[in-house]
Amino acid sequence: MEIVSDSAKALEIVSRYYKGPVKYARAVLERWPGSGAVVAYMGGEAVGAEIFYVVELAAAACVHYYVAVAPEYRRRGVASFLVNKVEELCGAGVYMATTTEDNAAALRLFRGLGYVGYRWGELPRGAREVLLKATCGYDDDVLLIKGGDPLAVAMHTQDVERLWRETCLKPFLNL
Ligand SMILES: CC(C)(COP(=O)(O)OP(=O)(O)OC[C@H]1O[C@@H](n2cnc3c(N)ncnc32)[C@H](O)[C@@H]1OP(=O)(O)O)[C@@H](O)C(=O)NCCC(=O)NCCS
Repeated sequence: MEIVSDSAKALEIVSRYYKGPVKYARAVLERWPGSGAVVAYMGGEAVGAEIFYVVELAAAACVHYYVAVAPEYRRRGVASFLVNKVEELCGAGVYMATTTEDNAAALRLFRGLGYVGYRWGELPRGAREVLLKATCGYDDDVLLIKGGDPLAVAMHTQDVERLWRETCLKPFLNL
């Protein structure tokens, strides 16, 4: 499997295979300097992609924002490969993702790579609000985190406020 950095192709793949709006992915790539996108190729065919970014909380946190694999290539380790590569590229201390409780594939993917899951409701309000802003995970139920305790990581910084305003709130308001 080969991995190539390519924002336009990654957006195309994510739009095709992800149920839900991709305007947030586009906003991150256009407006957040600490973002990136990778595409996985098998036999010359683009089979999956991930869009990610880094935000400064108590430590630099890498968010796996959108991960998607073509249905006919699922359960072959493509997403695991992408997530591992993004961890290398980010070089952050802490890694996060969010998903819905019914997304068995995403939960299994991240848990299998050492992420610990928390339902938003399990976290104290202050930490929850910061981590919701850091991940724009309002439509999801579960935070998956690796490399740090959510309460220790959840520092309210100017960086997270700026990220949230530019890439989460403004696209939500269609600005
Ligand atoms: C989630 C998704 C990216 C996983 O991609 P993938 O390439 O199939 O994942 P992998 O092959 O690396 O599998 C990772 C683990 O999840 C498991 N898994 C994958 N699909 C699964 C499913 N439908 N049900 C249960 N487990 C599943 C695999 O068995 C593997 O676990 P293992 O290592 O213990 O065997 C893919 O299903 C997808 O594109 N879904 C639609 C978009 C989406 O929901 N993205 C995630 C949002 S956070």
